[in-house]
Amino acid sequence: MRKSMVAGNWKMNGSSAFAAQMSEQFNQHAPTVSSVDVVLCPPAIYLSQVQGDAQGYACAAQNVHFAGSGAFTGEISVAMLNDIKCKYVLVGHSERREMFAETDAIIAKKMAVCVAASLVPILCIGETLVQRNNGEAFAVVKRQVLAALEDIDLKTNDIVIAYEPIWAIGTGETATPEQAQEIHAYIRSVLEAEISLEVAERTRILYGGSVSALTASELFSQPDIDGGLVGGASLKVEDFKIICSAAAN
Ligand code: PGA
Repeated sequence: MRKSMVAGNWKMNGSSAFAAQMSEQFNQHAPTVSSVDVVLCPPAIYLSQVQGDAQGYACAAQNVHFAGSGAFTGEISVAMLNDIKCKYVLVGHSERREMFAETDAIIAKKMAVCVAASLVPILCIGETLVQRNNGEAFAVVKRQVLAALEDIDLKTNDIVIAYEPIWAIGTGETATPEQAQEIHAYIRSVLEAEISLEVAERTRILYGGSVSALTASELFSQPDIDGGLVGGASLKVEDFKIICSAAAN
């Protein structure tokens, strides 16, 4: 049985006051969602603060560099994330792929350093609207998954996958539960065919893309949807609580 997860990706939003409020709220809310892993993904500057206050939730960085240390201005390393006891990292978010030119090869390197450092990467994948309309969604997610897993052994390591169709991110247009379930089941079948049934059954696959307090419970009730990666709605405390609770059912 896979434990549900809901991760709130603040992107480049928030403040230290917002971070303190979220920590307090989700520490309090923890008992009611004890069957869900709640993960907060603040901007790097607040990560240490939010992680330091964490009791009822875990933290994820929004990004990490693949190098161990050195002259990489603006970047953070896996050792730094370990140092502050951060457990998860978003890897390959579509905004990083599109706006910061992250390729499948870069993402594979990031996946490998995370796993080697015992951080759990949350690998983000998903097709554009053009790719979906061309009937390429399955091929795109398969390519992204296999490329990202190139250098890691999933039989001995855990990762989380977040399927986030790009056309649904920040647009208010959520994939239907059926559309999402179809891709999630496919991703699981790829894991089974390429790695093992055990890995396919163990790996959590989250849905992301305009998840809201209204759409969460129907999405999360699909058999292959193990929770969500939530952007906009994770900035609204009450909505995010409802979404976390929806994953507990
Ligand atoms: P959204 O973002 O919920 O605002 O669509 C999701 C994401 O980008 O992770």
